[in-house]
Amino acid sequence: MLGGLQVAGSLAKHMVASHTTQLWKTSTKTRSTFTSTDRPTPRRGSGARAFSSSDLGWRLAGDRGSERDSPGHNLGVSNFALPLREEDVDPDPLRQFAAWFQHAASAGVREPEAAALATASAEGAPSVRMVLMKQYDERGFVFYSNYESRKGQELAANSRAALMFYWVLLGRQIRIEGGAERTTLEESAAYVRSRSRASQLSALASPQSRTIESRDVLEQRVAQLAVLHERADLPLPDAWGGFRVVPESFEFWQRREDRLHDRLRYTRRHEGRWAVQRLAP
Ligand SMILES: Cc1cc2nc3c(=O)[nH]c(=O)nc-3n(C[C@H](O)[C@H](O)[C@H](O)COP(=O)(O)O)c2cc1C
Repeated sequence: MLGGLQVAGSLAKHMVASHTTQLWKTSTKTRSTFTSTDRPTPRRGSGARAFSSSDLGWRLAGDRGSERDSPGHNLGVSNFALPLREEDVDPDPLRQFAAWFQHAASAGVREPEAAALATASAEGAPSVRMVLMKQYDERGFVFYSNYESRKGQELAANSRAALMFYWVLLGRQIRIEGGAERTTLEESAAYVRSRSRASQLSALASPQSRTIESRDVLEQRVAQLAVLHERADLPLPDAWGGFRVVPESFEFWQRREDRLHDRLRYTRRHEGRWAVQRLAP
């Protein structure tokens, strides 16, 4: 059991049992206060090194770290960077991600699931925007969007994608790169149905990334759809669904003193194994 935090609890269950973590059902709990009981329980019997509080940088109070090199120095942002050492990280980058993600949620990072998503056109012209990661497991990292949006069109032409999480409070960045594929219709429908009616109406009404005449036009469209479907379930928006980024590499970045940051990159090898290399900061 990883502790009292809902996401952490569900994470523990899913990581151990079904290996799936869905954030969209538990997102209201992600802002729980960190307590010592929220720490992950060390793994047993896997042959891999277990997590411990010092491995994962749980020391939030009392560790002053470097005051000089932190962009948040005057903003109330803590400095408590602990070393990110090869011998401490989990051989499975998904478990390492889970530990950091859970820590971010329990430490009070706002929307730790917010990530920058980079895509590129068929010609290689890049674009980037924020998305909310709603689920992750050994199959990949899922976000939901409009398939006809700019990102949707770029992913249709070029499935390569990159996600980047940055938690300034913890001085941590995680980069994930891989191919993106669509989630199944059932998964997408389940997600859409989990949203409020108002949110479903907005998704139905909004031709994401297209030019529109005015905000009024959009609001009128929402109002029309609300009347049209007043007494019925809303139809599923044709173009709305999930993408799953299937990781081929992860990079964990930890801020350290005097710019000597730690960077560990995992690269997928055969048979589910990952190679870990240190990169220069
Ligand atoms: C914190 C944050 C989270 C967001 N999450 C999503 C999301 O999960 N899905 C989505 O389609 N757009 C999301 N957006 C809006 C996108 O950043 C973007 O404006 C939109 O998807 C259109 O992007 P595109 O034109 O590149 O396709 C989010 C924006 C912010 C600031």
